[in-house]
Amino acid sequence: MQTIRRAAAILLAVLFLLASCGKPQDGPVDTIKIGVSVYRQDDTFISLLVDHLNEYAKTYEQIKGVKLQLDFSYAQYNQSLQNDQIDGFLQKDYDVVLVNVVDRTAAGGLVDKAKTAQKPIIFFNREPVREDLDRWRLAYYVGADAAESGELEGRLLVDAYMDDPARLDRNGDGVLQYVMLEGDPGHQDSMIRTETSVRTLTQAGIRTEKLASSIANWQRVQASTKMLLWIEKFGSRIEAVIANNDDMALGALDAYANTGVADLPAIVGIDGTPGGLQAVSDGRMLGTVYNDSSSQARHLIQLACQLAAGESLESLPLTDSKYLLTPYIHITSENAALYSDAE
Ligand code: BGC
Repeated sequence: MQTIRRAAAILLAVLFLLASCGKPQDGPVDTIKIGVSVYRQDDTFISLLVDHLNEYAKTYEQIKGVKLQLDFSYAQYNQSLQNDQIDGFLQKDYDVVLVNVVDRTAAGGLVDKAKTAQKPIIFFNREPVREDLDRWRLAYYVGADAAESGELEGRLLVDAYMDDPARLDRNGDGVLQYVMLEGDPGHQDSMIRTETSVRTLTQAGIRTEKLASSIANWQRVQASTKMLLWIEKFGSRIEAVIANNDDMALGALDAYANTGVADLPAIVGIDGTPGGLQAVSDGRMLGTVYNDSSSQARHLIQLACQLAAGESLESLPLTDSKYLLTPYIHITSENAALYSDAE
């Protein structure tokens, strides 16, 4: 099955490249220069996305016989450093810039820079508000719908609860006591996942009680530190750990491993990173929600090279003429192995 998925992914990549990035309107393009600025270097999900960008860039070169120069810079979570990096790409006449923006409220200024330079700018993963994208005809966003991920995460808990209420509601009080691990506060995914995951539970008729919630900035170590305190404070009263991403869910697991507590609550995450999928497969996590970094990278390369070549975007599945979004997928121990191979 894994071989079939891998073969299907390669075929898809070949088909998309054949269907796109053809001859530019005003003469052949020998080298397409794409500058990528990433909010920080040590983010697990973004690293997967960067790997996929490199993969698709190579496939593109092989199939189209055009050189694709993909240059990365890392902003170390510093917006002014990222502004300089974007200035640098534009001054050096890169054809397109891809931005994983540090501070979403700074996106408008970056869009203006790209507009002044008359270059396309594509944001990814950290989403600007629509008004900022509307400042320039050639500003786009590639990512996924945050609300969908939170709803699917909530649905993992709802399904398990409906299946066997006692498995989640361990003290049998008819209320699901949970703790919430949140990503960085300015990120659309943190705010929206936090809200929609819990709303999905309450809309399904499950009563909930938040024992604690804290920002762990998407990071495993920070999550583990918070979780250790909560295990000490609430012990077995914690019936569910809802994490805005897999790294923080894994941090919660680290804390349980450190305290030697073997009877784990229901732990859910989002992303489907290799570590997250493994934890779902071996039953340490109840489930995760697959965030398709591979398809997002494919969309980024496709959109960037079509823009660089001045081609029509008619063949692309754009939403509201600005967005390329990938669906999230609900992962339990039943389908986790299928997705491990995609990473
Ligand atoms: C991912 C997180 C990641 C964050 C970075 C989110 O969409 O789920 O794992 O840390 O993006 O911006």
